[in-house]
Amino acid sequence: MQPVNGPMNEISPVTDAAPIKPVPTLPDAQTVTQVTHWTDRLFSFRVTRPASLRFRSGEFVMIGLMGDPNPETGKQKPLLRAYSIASPSWDDELEFYSIKVQDGPLTSRLQHIEPGDQIILRPKPVGTLVHDALLPGKRLWLFATGTGFAPFASLLRDPQTYDDYDEVIITHTCREVGELTYGAKLIESIRADEMLAELIGEGFADKLRYYPTTTREESPKMGRITDLMRSGEVFADLGVPPLCPETDRAMICGNLAFNLELKDLLESYGLEEGANSKPAHYVVEKAFLD
Ligand SMILES: Cc1cc2nc3c(=O)[nH]c(=O)nc-3n(C[C@H](O)[C@H](O)[C@H](O)COP(=O)(O)OP(=O)(O)OC[C@H]3O[C@@H](n4cnc5c(N)ncnc54)[C@H](O)[C@@H]3O)c2cc1C
Ligand SMILES: NC(=O)c1ccc[n+]([C@@H]2O[C@H](COP(=O)([O-])OP(=O)(O)OC[C@H]3O[C@@H](n4cnc5c(N)ncnc54)[C@H](OP(=O)(O)O)[C@@H]3O)[C@@H](O)[C@H]2O)c1
Repeated sequence: MQPVNGPMNEISPVTDAAPIKPVPTLPDAQTVTQVTHWTDRLFSFRVTRPASLRFRSGEFVMIGLMGDPNPETGKQKPLLRAYSIASPSWDDELEFYSIKVQDGPLTSRLQHIEPGDQIILRPKPVGTLVHDALLPGKRLWLFATGTGFAPFASLLRDPQTYDDYDEVIITHTCREVGELTYGAKLIESIRADEMLAELIGEGFADKLRYYPTTTREESPKMGRITDLMRSGEVFADLGVPPLCPETDRAMICGNLAFNLELKDLLESYGLEEGANSKPAHYVVEKAFLD
């Protein structure tokens, strides 16, 4: 191993110089370790994980940056937003998958973070997209639009997902092809992950089915997933029967209209909504407020 500051046996000279002042840190600060820009509207980033933070794959936390100083008092308040943790609960770091809203109070600034920068992370994870909120089943459906993929990026890397189910189907609907890239690359990396294969068992990736669709740009599968379910196309494509409460469990994360439409559809198949306190057949969470 190389010494960090010069040759191994060199004795550092003792000086009277004042100690370097530590850089002021934010409350609940974590350091950015990696940033990837996927499109002009989407990026992902990784940050250090507080040693004490325990969470269940699929949960969300509040993250943000310090707001601008109040012009009268000069005081600064944290500017926080809900974010699904996209990394699994066993990961040493935390990953997030984010929108860039050009006039959004947080993401207009957050999109410019770089490795070494700090963000605020309130270590209080919560959420309904967790295994505990579902009754045992055979097939797990994960339905996402846009950044609603984030909680599933966590669950898809969690060994429990493959231990609990014979088949895991992730659907992701976006307007444009580029908006699918983060998810597509993640699925690819899961299928090639030797550590997961060792942990879960060879062939675990055969349980994973990926069904990406676009609505406004040409791609191999076009259409809203809700329409593809109503027409039966998705079931024919995957060679599975429509959902039923005896075998199928589902998690939904997308925009409000999508969540409501899909809830209605799942209820029409006889599935009932679950919660942490009362596990049932499906759970829902908003990908953003609106
Ligand atoms: C439970 C929960 C989990 C969330 N997890 C994530 C996440 O993992 N990744 C993420 O990017 N956002 C997530 N959000 C949304 C996030 O909290 C912020 O809204 C987002 O970061 C934008 O913040 P902002 O201050 O820039 O703009 P805001 O003032 O918060 O939003 C401005 C407008 O931008 C649009 N918008 C906001 N978020 C999104 C989005 N994710 N996708 C498409 N349009 C959006 C809406 O029309 C909204 O009215 C989540 C929200 C909730 C409630
Ligand atoms: N994505 C972009 O290129 C883009 C660019 C600039 C601004 N914006 C703005 O950003 C905000 C979020 O856009 P977004 O694209 O991230 O998310 P979004 O509007 O939630 O759309 C994501 C995907 O979900 C589909 N969808 C929407 N409602 C649905 C429903 N009820 N049932 C089934 N599928 C449904 C959309 O299909 P449809 O296409 O059929 O609606 C789209 O494929 C919007 O206000 C938008 O105006 C988006």
